[in-house]
Amino acid sequence: GVNLSGRHFLKLLDFTTEEIEYLLELSRNFKDLKRTGTPHRYLEGKNIVLLFQKTSTRTRCSFEVGAMDLGMGVTYLDPGSSQMGKKESIEDTARVLGRFYDGIEFRGFAQSDVEDLAANAGVPVWNGLTTEWHPTQMLADILTVKENFNDDIKGKTLVFMGDAKNNVARSLMVVCSKLGMNFVACGPEECMPADDVVEACRPIAEANGCTVKLTSDVAEGVAGAHVIYTDVWVSMGEPDEVWEERIRLLEPYRVTSEVMAQADPDAIFLHCLPSFHDTNTTIGAQKAEQFGITEMEVTDEVFEGPQSKVFDEAENRMHTIKAVMYATLK
Ligand code: CP
Ligand code: NVA
Repeated sequence: GVNLSGRHFLKLLDFTTEEIEYLLELSRNFKDLKRTGTPHRYLEGKNIVLLFQKTSTRTRCSFEVGAMDLGMGVTYLDPGSSQMGKKESIEDTARVLGRFYDGIEFRGFAQSDVEDLAANAGVPVWNGLTTEWHPTQMLADILTVKENFNDDIKGKTLVFMGDAKNNVARSLMVVCSKLGMNFVACGPEECMPADDVVEACRPIAEANGCTVKLTSDVAEGVAGAHVIYTDVWVSMGEPDEVWEERIRLLEPYRVTSEVMAQADPDAIFLHCLPSFHDTNTTIGAQKAEQFGITEMEVTDEVFEGPQSKVFDEAENRMHTIKAVMYATLK
């Protein structure tokens, strides 16, 4: 059997297919316990700390509610309120927090930072998003796919539309390759995933009977797809100056009803959120007005439509993050 006790959760390339499937099963069990109101304070007496160098709604709240449901205490440190990175190194911070806490969540910039933390903490470290990877997100995404396709995900095709070089797209490529789903990155040349990730994924995909494809042709990319996925065009930590070019490059890759119509009739739409689809929201509104557009990465029609499962996906963040904490701390 699988035993993840004491392990870090830094990126999905570190986990086998069997381990990822185990975490998804565990997530489903936790979802049932939550639904039926069955207490599951399995980690009573433990404490965790959440270190955020970027903002968050879903990830932070998933760790907090998940930890409380498991009976643990939680400390949240926001981007400005600890010494880390300013008066104290990541290594020293890790050595201190590792003596207080049983587990550490980190959201930040460089993947090397979360790896430094893990190397020095002496307790499990969970990656809540870096510039390179967003591994907890993919567990929620795949759980949502399983729920919509009666568990039968092998051989299904997931298409990521837009900024396919970002943390979410890269992580989706890995999880699809490990679980036997075909992955398609559909975007402009300038926004394709880095070669090293593609090269790492191709043999994994081949071993699991699926493919990794990169294309700039929307019709070719989305034909027959089972999951259409997108994310914001500009990620946290990127300079404001990239917006103009990004909009120009990515407008042809917006998820519209026409795109959905070319996918499989049972296709679902996913988005990790937050989304700029609602141009009434602050940054969305500001950028839409500045660049004279009315829709961002996905139209309101698709986002609010029957194929959209984005709020089930968001809920699943909590159940899956709970599973990661339980598996690594038990
Ligand atoms: N999907 C996701 O990570 O959302 P937050 O930035 O709100 O945590
Ligand atoms: N690619 C996005 C994902 C947010 C959950 C970002 O890094 O900002």
